[in-house]
Amino acid sequence: MAKEYSPFTPGVPVPIEFFVGRENEITEIVTKVAKSASMKTLERVFITGERGIGKSSLCRMAVRIAEEKHEVIGLHVFLGGVTSLEEMVRRIFERLLQESRDRSWFDGVKGFLGNHIKEVGLFGVSLAFDAPQRDLSQAVSDFGPTLRKLLSRIGAQRKGLMIVLDDLNGLAGSNAFANWLKSLVDEIATARDPLPLTLVLAGLPERRRQLLETQPSLDRVFDLIAIRPFDEAQTKQFFQHALQKVNVAVTPEALNIFWQFSGGYPVFLHEIGDAAFKADTDGTIEKRDALDGVISAAKVIGAKYIEPKVLAAIWSERYRGILRKITPVEAPHEFTRFTKAELMGRISPEEAKVLDNFLQKMKRLGVIHQSAEMGKGHYQFTSALYALFFLLQAAP
Ligand SMILES: Nc1ncnc2c1ncn2[C@@H]1O[C@H](COP(=O)(O)OP(=O)(O)O)[C@@H](O)[C@H]1O
Ligand SMILES: [Mg+2]
Repeated sequence: MAKEYSPFTPGVPVPIEFFVGRENEITEIVTKVAKSASMKTLERVFITGERGIGKSSLCRMAVRIAEEKHEVIGLHVFLGGVTSLEEMVRRIFERLLQESRDRSWFDGVKGFLGNHIKEVGLFGVSLAFDAPQRDLSQAVSDFGPTLRKLLSRIGAQRKGLMIVLDDLNGLAGSNAFANWLKSLVDEIATARDPLPLTLVLAGLPERRRQLLETQPSLDRVFDLIAIRPFDEAQTKQFFQHALQKVNVAVTPEALNIFWQFSGGYPVFLHEIGDAAFKADTDGTIEKRDALDGVISAAKVIGAKYIEPKVLAAIWSERYRGILRKITPVEAPHEFTRFTKAELMGRISPEEAKVLDNFLQKMKRLGVIHQSAEMGKGHYQFTSALYALFFLLQAAP
């Protein structure tokens, strides 16, 4: 039987049919949307977690469910590389345009966006929105009233809006964004007319920190959802489910390896799964295929997610030797922390000679850190991605 395509999608939000877990998070978000749509309130939530943990995938799923169950217009807007509020607003409206195409409220949206709609692409199959800067600036400062006007154009066909601002990287640190959010929230709170809007922000924990440094009062405004890696059961369920869809079997030993070397970290599940799927030749992923998958995934992950300066720094044999032993393979759940004392017990005398230099260097590069409350000799990786990458190097 010819092999089907890989069900794994490393690096892009997961297709709805392969999405697993996150039931509580989805319920929390969708409940807010339901409240916003029925009580006509502003609901706010901030989704944080490391890169690759599944923020965008969660948002996508929540938007889909909210649209179906609560008849809102859901706009998932990616703000990677965006540094101005005008461009942010332009992207929100462009998303609105694209999402509304072929829907019953499209005429309302067209009327609202006026003559700034363009057909783009070779066959004119995409729609773009391009308004002059001064109109965009106006929409930035009158964002609440602008959205009310949009909803009144659409009428009874949709009950509210859900806007996800994802990948806040460029904006979150700016005063302009923090102040804009604060004024938006204040405007909606004091306006005469209500606005059924659910605002979801998604970004790295440090983006949230930056935002709160600029506008501390926003802390109470946004409910926080911090996304965690999958547990063992969810990790295994993900693999079984994805492989079953393409008629590939998987042995319990292989599932254990997937769990051990991914730490339940979604982006790793896909990288390792994809590599194991390619390594398999007989339609059953067993231990050997899973290990081959781990080894090739380590290379891919090194190239895709680890900064060149970190890779260069760990080039020496002795440093690599230490890194391979930092994470006890038998206890991957503890993989982001280690102590110098434990590590001393696992490394060779040669490696022990360079250990202090090694720790200093990793600290300087921002790979590991030490905090006062952890106590002397205790270290933590700054990102699970690092810990897992080094763990993968230890695959037999
Ligand atoms: N709930 C999930 N079920 C299955 N795969 C997921 C899930 N969440 C994320 N993934 C996968 O993990 C990787 C990272 O997800 P993504 O949503 O892009 O993370 P983030 O936005 O936090 O960087 C992608 O390959 C995605 O397909
Ligand atoms: Mg994302």
